[in-house]
Amino acid sequence: MLFQPPLPPKYAAMSQADLAESILRRKREFGSRLVILGHHYQQDEVIQFADFTGDSLKLSQIGGQQDGAEFIVFCGVHFMAESADILTDDSVTVVLPDLSAGCSMADMADIDDLEEAWEYLVDEGGQSVVPITYVNSAASIKAFCGEHGGACCTSSNAAQVLKWAYQQGDKVIFLPDQHLGRNTAFAMGIPLDKMVVYDPHERHGGLTTDQVRDAKVFLWKGHCSVHALFTPQQCHEIRAIDPKYNIIVHPECSWEVLQQADIAGSTEFIIKTVREAPVGSKWAIGTEVHLVNRLIADYPDKSIRLLAGIQCLCTTMYRVDLKHLCWCLDELADGREANPIRVAPATKKLAVIALERMLENVSPVPVAVK
Ligand code: 13P
Ligand code: SF4
Repeated sequence: MLFQPPLPPKYAAMSQADLAESILRRKREFGSRLVILGHHYQQDEVIQFADFTGDSLKLSQIGGQQDGAEFIVFCGVHFMAESADILTDDSVTVVLPDLSAGCSMADMADIDDLEEAWEYLVDEGGQSVVPITYVNSAASIKAFCGEHGGACCTSSNAAQVLKWAYQQGDKVIFLPDQHLGRNTAFAMGIPLDKMVVYDPHERHGGLTTDQVRDAKVFLWKGHCSVHALFTPQQCHEIRAIDPKYNIIVHPECSWEVLQQADIAGSTEFIIKTVREAPVGSKWAIGTEVHLVNRLIADYPDKSIRLLAGIQCLCTTMYRVDLKHLCWCLDELADGREANPIRVAPATKKLAVIALERMLENVSPVPVAVK
């Protein structure tokens, strides 16, 4: 995780109204030179200033179209800002308002561990292996996938990318989220006994040569600490409270949770499903709490609640707040590049291959302006 130095004390002394006023003023001053992107898990106080909001896929698409801007301020987490840097040309500076806004799942896949895994799986597998990484990963992992005939995916297009991968080779290593990998492969008809978990902390991933030869999918042992909080028991409890609840969950939840849910999909899919649902319908949602609370506020004519009885908060997304947004805009206005996210050129060159394959394997999504 990167370290965010403390902000100058004046930001702690500013009220929310002063911060908001200052951000608006900066936005007006910068005009079209500045684009603020906001992931759906951001706090409302931040999302109100986003020029575009979206899930990881939509923000990658929109981010890649911002070559005319001077600055992209990415209200999200580190890997999202890296993707925006990879997908834009060098004239665009991508800024992350708080450097410590990382992603614990992305941190679970390390490039040295992947290189070691690759050597073992390719040597023992006896067939061609295609590396697929969830976009929630470091640029070095994306570059590895680009270099070795693989691709990135997001939760919106994981099925399309996996289908593409099996047209390129016989086996897939999917990282870092074992749950998205398992849920997607299972929905495509690959049986659970053809999927094995590769644990980077074990010798040879904890897999025997027979397991490696027999598997169709190697699932990296990583997970999202937020979506891991949802359980099948919560689904049973909701059904006991009221069987009319539709249970919709993000595919970063475990396979066991997805078996109990009615429907699963990415953040953007969850929003669309709830938006288009009939008035009076009931929804229990298994994803990050800020998005669920926004849906509750936006659709008072529907009964919406979090699937879990506990708060499911992405603590790293939460680090991006008005103070950090205001500070980074002030720094940019004063000619200082606050928290620029720059991927090394050699990494960028390979990572862009994986990201472009991701963007090619997606049915056209209309890009909506907020
Ligand atoms: P999506 O934005 O693809 O829905 O993923 C959710 C998430 O956890 C982002 O980190
Ligand atoms: Fe990472 Fe999970 Fe937070 Fe998304 S919700 S940024 S996957 S920790």
